[in-house]
Amino acid sequence: MKKAILVVSFGTSYHDTLEKTILATEGAIAQANPGWEVRRAFTSAIIMRKLLARDNLQIDSVAQAMAKLEAQGFTHVAVQPTHVMHGEEYEKLLSMLEPYRLSMKIQVGQPLLNSQEDYEQVAKALLSWLPRQDDALVLMGHGTAHFANSAYGQLEQNLQDLRETVYVATVEGYPTLDRVIRSLSSRPEIKTVTLAPLMLVAGDHARNDMAGEEDSWKAQLEKAGYRVNCILQGMGECPAIRDLFVRHCAEAVEALHTRGKLWGVSVGPGDPELLTIKAAKVLEQADVILAPDTGKADKTALNIIRNYLNGKKPELVSTPMTRDKEVLEQAYESAAQRIIADLEEGKQVAFITLGDATVYSTYMYIHEKVRARGYAVEVVPGVTSFCAAAARLNISLCQGSEPLLVIPASHSAREFLDVPANKVFMKAGSAILDLKKTLEEKNMLSNASMVENCSMENEHVYPDFRELDKTTGYFSLVIVKEEGK
Ligand code: CO
Repeated sequence: MKKAILVVSFGTSYHDTLEKTILATEGAIAQANPGWEVRRAFTSAIIMRKLLARDNLQIDSVAQAMAKLEAQGFTHVAVQPTHVMHGEEYEKLLSMLEPYRLSMKIQVGQPLLNSQEDYEQVAKALLSWLPRQDDALVLMGHGTAHFANSAYGQLEQNLQDLRETVYVATVEGYPTLDRVIRSLSSRPEIKTVTLAPLMLVAGDHARNDMAGEEDSWKAQLEKAGYRVNCILQGMGECPAIRDLFVRHCAEAVEALHTRGKLWGVSVGPGDPELLTIKAAKVLEQADVILAPDTGKADKTALNIIRNYLNGKKPELVSTPMTRDKEVLEQAYESAAQRIIADLEEGKQVAFITLGDATVYSTYMYIHEKVRARGYAVEVVPGVTSFCAAAARLNISLCQGSEPLLVIPASHSAREFLDVPANKVFMKAGSAILDLKKTLEEKNMLSNASMVENCSMENEHVYPDFRELDKTTGYFSLVIVKEEGK
């Protein structure tokens, strides 16, 4: 997978504003998206021609930029326009992208003004960013014959919700400067006016139509009797406006689903038929299958899933059997890093675990590390060994009001013996005969049953635990029912 963000701007031929607005916005987007190639395209052919002829500066059109991305094997492209609204420029952009949708996954970010939240944030951003030196503020928007022009009226309302003496007018549409001058005249207390562009850049419109000497908005306002200050800064210079573009771009990036997902796939106790249908599906669709490697050459989990690999070869991840916290932490961290590298490439990673992932599974330590870093994770539950053992013994684990206590036998068998509950002792392992002795001392042996390697090929069932006279393997499980129940 190759991922790129194409930042599309109308363009400007003024280098200073280009740097402070368009380049700054591209920079903010690049900073927020490490691992993504960020590229530039302009939509104004006039400006691109001018930059090439005057400065020998070649800037790609949208078609040129997309063709390059396609030729270079990019697969996922987020396109973030720096346009103000869903007008003609935005619609043209959408249609220009159409031919490339066959070969690449493309998502287009929203322009500056889309949701009501955007309007409120833009109003707040501009009012706190622009200096408040005069009685009134008049913002110069571009204006368009497209119906999106109504965005200017909506923005003016949102600005006036915050400060009454802020007005929006446009060069080519409605509201007009004449309308603003009429509004100003109804407030005789207004003597001074600030003019600022409601455009990403401070280009020709700002320099000439707004702040020029003749026929400009400045000149017209001065003629109407106001003292006028002009701010020649495009909105792209305002960090909060850039942040809004960054956020819109993040939505497009998110919608591309470029990050994979980690699945903790519980594969049940041993019998391949006890694998859930969901687990089988996830395994079949996963790009990568990982299995824990305890160093004991135990192939039980791999054996369970062998019919659902779809030609993939499971990879082993070292999960040492030790109580050394540092060794474990290191193993889990390197497993998490390995998984994250795959997720960043958009892969679906299935990590298999015996029994159920939520019951004494090493997997959950890795799961937690990956989740904490913001990646998508999901656990597929499975049949636990103690449920399978009870089924094998044809007994219930708990009924009616009986509590059930699950105890890791090699750690803490003794502390819980007096708790009035049916008990499952898991992971007794080599301590199985110690456990037997302990139960004997407590007079609990007559209600104890044991299953070794439940549902596996080398399964041994001891309905009466007393019959066991030798040490058993790791997968030994003892169930003790409360007396008289
Ligand atoms: Co224009």
